[in-house]
Amino acid sequence: MKFFIDTANLDQIEEAQALGVLDGVTTNPSLMAKEGISGEANIFNHYKAICELVDGDVSAEVLSTDFDGMVKEGEALAALHPQIVVKLPMIKDGIKACRYFSAKGIKTNVTLVFSVGQALLAAKAGATYVSPFIGRLDDISTDGLHLIGEIREVYDNYFFETEILAASVRHTMHIVDCAKIGADVMTGPLSAIEGLMRHPLTDSGLAKFLEDAKNL
Ligand code: G3P
Repeated sequence: MKFFIDTANLDQIEEAQALGVLDGVTTNPSLMAKEGISGEANIFNHYKAICELVDGDVSAEVLSTDFDGMVKEGEALAALHPQIVVKLPMIKDGIKACRYFSAKGIKTNVTLVFSVGQALLAAKAGATYVSPFIGRLDDISTDGLHLIGEIREVYDNYFFETEILAASVRHTMHIVDCAKIGADVMTGPLSAIEGLMRHPLTDSGLAKFLEDAKNL
């Protein structure tokens, strides 16, 4: 399973990259705003800075909601750097734009996916990635991980190449469960990734080794 970090914070991206397990980055308008970035030039420069920090795909979301606007914006984003993936909302014009970009060989990530039907449509439109938001489903008492399993089943039935990018991952067990279900990618915060390495028996075992090593 690929590990993407879901942030626009350069320090966190750098820290995740230094860990040596990072495969890419996802951003969205809320995450960009959180970093205080505004204005097209600054936004574009920030995406370029992220691409310089990591080796893998970097999702950059369009702000337009009409086909022409998404095409114009997506083309400008894709021209910024070869690692840019054009992120499109799961709406009618977003699906049309997804088909447009996939026909041109430009990578896409269809976002704000909350149902199997939406995921099926994104795959039919040639999406590189589909982003089901598992945490936001959990927030409304609906099993987000169950959706990942259902999409996995449908994609496997028809050998769709679209990668399931489990998004809105909130904690470490989300990552473990996504891996068990067979998500292709997960995107989450650095804290959730770092949680994977923690175990009290590792800590106590290391303390004992270091204590005993004093007698060597
Ligand atoms: O990857 C999508 C993500 O940014 C949304 O996460 O925690 O705002 O639901 P969250």
